Amino acid sequence: MWDVVRWLTVIDYPYTMRHAEEFYADMELAMACGEPQFYGAALKTSNLLIGGVGLHPPRAGNASEGEIEIGYWLGRPYWGRGFMSEAARAVISLGFARKTTRLIVATTALDNVASQNVLLTIGMQNAGLGLRDYSALRGDDRIVKWQMTREEWEARSSS
Ligand SMILES: CC(C)(COP(=O)(O)OP(=O)(O)OC[C@H]1O[C@@H](n2cnc3c(N)ncnc32)[C@H](O)[C@@H]1OP(=O)(O)O)[C@@H](O)C(=O)NCCC(=O)NCCS
Repeated sequence: MWDVVRWLTVIDYPYTMRHAEEFYADMELAMACGEPQFYGAALKTSNLLIGGVGLHPPRAGNASEGEIEIGYWLGRPYWGRGFMSEAARAVISLGFARKTTRLIVATTALDNVASQNVLLTIGMQNAGLGLRDYSALRGDDRIVKWQMTREEWEARSSS
């Protein structure tokens, strides 16, 4: 599990059933309010839940109006098969389907090449280096920032 968790910004570790229950309660509340903040990723063939994609208000303190953040993970056996490129692309479309969304952002650790390649594959732009102003389990605050504007998404969708 550390293989997955070490790259994530806001998660408890060790992760217990109580953490999972609290997470689902929070996500159900967001969904009931009409703004889902988490989408499960499941295999089309068996409906097996293999990971998830979050779409939530940015964790950074200086976010502007109309900005939302994407984050994701997959169980280790499902890496490297194109699943997250497909899932993240679909969730980006859901994000821009919300009329108020102007910009979708993401952050990765400097050495999380797999995640950076997902973001490049789905068309996010490198927006430079930064520092996290929120917790990171690995204790390394340096990040690469990523973004896609509504205009960039519309241009990609129509090409
Ligand atoms: C990041 C993660 C979701 C990637 O999911 P995935 O389904 O394996 O990614 P994909 O198969 O869609 O690959 C997307 C691209 O990244 C590349 N890639 C995947 N794993 C890679 C790796 N370990 N090193 C380098 N490139 C990698 C793929 O070749 C592909 O490139 P292409 O589109 O040019 O062919 C998965 O590794 C994961 O869950 N990691 C732990 C949690 C995490 O890091 N979350 C993100 C935090 S910012």
